[in-house]
Amino acid sequence: MANIVIAGTQWGDEGKGKIVDLLAENADVIVRFQGGNNAGHTMVIKDRKFICHLIPSGILQGKLCMIGNGLVVDPEVLLQEMDTLSKAGINVGPKILKISDKAHLIMPYHKKIDEARENKKGDDKIGTTGRGIGPTYEDKASRRGIRFVELLDNDLFEEMLTNAVEEKNFYLQQFFNQKKLDLNKITTQYRRYAEQLRPYVTDVSVELDQAVKNGKQILFEGAQGAHLDIDHGTYPFVTSSNTISGNACCGAGIGPTRITGVLGIAKAYTTRVGRGPFPTELFDAVGEIIQKTGAEFGATTGRKRRCGWLDTVVLRNAVRLNGLSGLVITKLDVLSGLDTLNICNAYEHEGARVTDFPSNRRILAACRPVYETLPGWKEDISLAKNRRDLPKNALKYLDRIEELTETHIDIISVGPERNQTIVINNPFI
Ligand code: IMP
Repeated sequence: MANIVIAGTQWGDEGKGKIVDLLAENADVIVRFQGGNNAGHTMVIKDRKFICHLIPSGILQGKLCMIGNGLVVDPEVLLQEMDTLSKAGINVGPKILKISDKAHLIMPYHKKIDEARENKKGDDKIGTTGRGIGPTYEDKASRRGIRFVELLDNDLFEEMLTNAVEEKNFYLQQFFNQKKLDLNKITTQYRRYAEQLRPYVTDVSVELDQAVKNGKQILFEGAQGAHLDIDHGTYPFVTSSNTISGNACCGAGIGPTRITGVLGIAKAYTTRVGRGPFPTELFDAVGEIIQKTGAEFGATTGRKRRCGWLDTVVLRNAVRLNGLSGLVITKLDVLSGLDTLNICNAYEHEGARVTDFPSNRRILAACRPVYETLPGWKEDISLAKNRRDLPKNALKYLDRIEELTETHIDIISVGPERNQTIVINNPFI
């Protein structure tokens, strides 16, 4: 029996959705444990593309899917997503989708504040997705948040919402010069959501415990990546939750002894959306080729992703922070055709070699990547089924990643489709 966490190792968008969808085939329960609809997990199945922002990617496999207490949920987005999936013939009924009663709700004022704050910031912009994620986690930490359990209690909800709207309207009007929000409108809107979502709301921790006792295999689906983690990422250019594997326990309500492994997902190169330091970023034609070939646009905001060489200082940081038991390398096919490939194995700062990811953002911004150059390959690898089907130089590239990260590669993705995957070790089998 395996209970595995899937975590992003870079700055998100590593291709976790595809891997979760693939591994979900042999798992019984898929649970998301942090973030919200800032995430966008893309899956391609027989030419049909699905992007899930909130519902765990395992829903396409017809597996039991849970939204843990660690998420912040926009009920409007959740209902839209359920509607889209259900119209595509995918079951999203309350027997298959469960929502934690302790998950916090994204409210209209959170989105307004996120937007107004970002607009006011000028050069200091974080580049948020503008979905209200940060302000909702702020209210959670300051003990003013509204959870599903309160949403379903009419009196409690009304009391909390009245207080919140009074305070947020003051902030929006006085500080941001924005129009005030209408309490009655929000009340009516959220009462409707409450009735639509009531059958889905449950204690996810209790359900997971039962699943473990029944010998079920659980897949914990992380969103974003280690370097967007609120504690360990490139603060303040981070998201507002802990994205590393340890948070699977807090964000789903399960103890660490129940987790049996952690798979870290890494793109064969590096990308980042939004602002913040990115030592191996490319500003030349190679960066453009990677951006175009990899179709590197944000799944949530459609923004062009910044692209760069693979950074193993970043990967080693993720190996340590997550306690990775294995790596998954995605989008290896995107690198086909390049004459040579660079791998960053350290940084150089004021003449000194840096091998641990710096916490100080000014030092990080001044770090120059130290590269080793490997030969590229020209072959189309998108149909490779085994590691031995790969060209010699692709194998060299993968071997070097394993050496530099001291971590075994368990899965290699060579295209967007489920069957374009080389599975060396499936932790659920
Ligand atoms: P927020 O999470 O919307 O507040 O955005 C904070 C930062 O995290 C911004 O730079 C976003 O672009 C980035 N971010 C948030 N979610 C994702 C994701 O799923 N993939 C990649 N970047 C993300």
